[in-house]
Amino acid sequence: MAKRPLSYLQILMGKRTYDWVMKQDLEEFPYKNKECYVFTRSLYEDTENVNFVNDDLAPFVNKLKNKNGSNIWLVGGGELLNSFIQEGLVDEFVITVAPTILGNGIPLFKEGNHHLELSLKGTKQFNQFIELHYETKK
Ligand SMILES: NC(=O)c1ccc[n+]([C@@H]2O[C@H](COP(=O)([O-])OP(=O)(O)OC[C@H]3O[C@@H](n4cnc5c(N)ncnc54)[C@H](OP(=O)(O)O)[C@@H]3O)[C@@H](O)[C@H]2O)c1
Repeated sequence: MAKRPLSYLQILMGKRTYDWVMKQDLEEFPYKNKECYVFTRSLYEDTENVNFVNDDLAPFVNKLKNKNGSNIWLVGGGELLNSFIQEGLVDEFVITVAPTILGNGIPLFKEGNHHLELSLKGTKQFNQFIELHYETKK
C-alpha cells in the first residue's frame, strides 16, 4: 500500500507520556487535529483530542493500518514501546540523541528477551542533536 502523506499520521502514546504532555504549559495539544490514541489499562472518558484504548496491540495496529494507511507514530514512552517491540510491531525507529549523559531516569528500552536487528536509513543533525533513522530488519 502506498504511504499516505504525513498529515494522515496517527499518534499513539502511553498514559504516562500523555500525562507528561498535559502537565506542560502548552498553548494547545501538540497533536490536535490528528487521530491520537492513548494506551491505558484503566477506563477514561475520551477527550476532544484523544481516545483512550486498552485493546490487544496487534489487532488494533492492523485495524489502523487497514483503515487509514500505514503512517503510525508511536510517541512513547518506554513501557508502551516495549509492548510494541515484544509483539514485533515496530517497523522503524527515529531516535534523537541529545548531548547529555544521565545516570538515572526513565529508559527508552526496557529489559526483555527481544533482539532486533536494524538497518540505518539516514541521519540528520539539528544543532547539537542527531536524529538516527533505522528500519527494523524482518
Ligand atoms: N524524550 C522523548 O521523546 C519522550 C517521548 C515519549 C515519552 N517520554 C517520557 O517518557 C516518560 C513516560 O514513559 P514510561 O515508559 O514511564 O510510560 P509510557 O509508556 O508513556 O506509559 C505507560 C502507561 O501506558 C499504559 N500502557 C503501557 N503499555 C500498555 C499496554 N500494552 N496496553 C495498555 N496500556 C498500556 C499504562 O497506563 P495505565 O497505568 O494508565 O494503565 C502504563 O502505565 C514520560 O516522562 C515522558 O515524558 C519522552
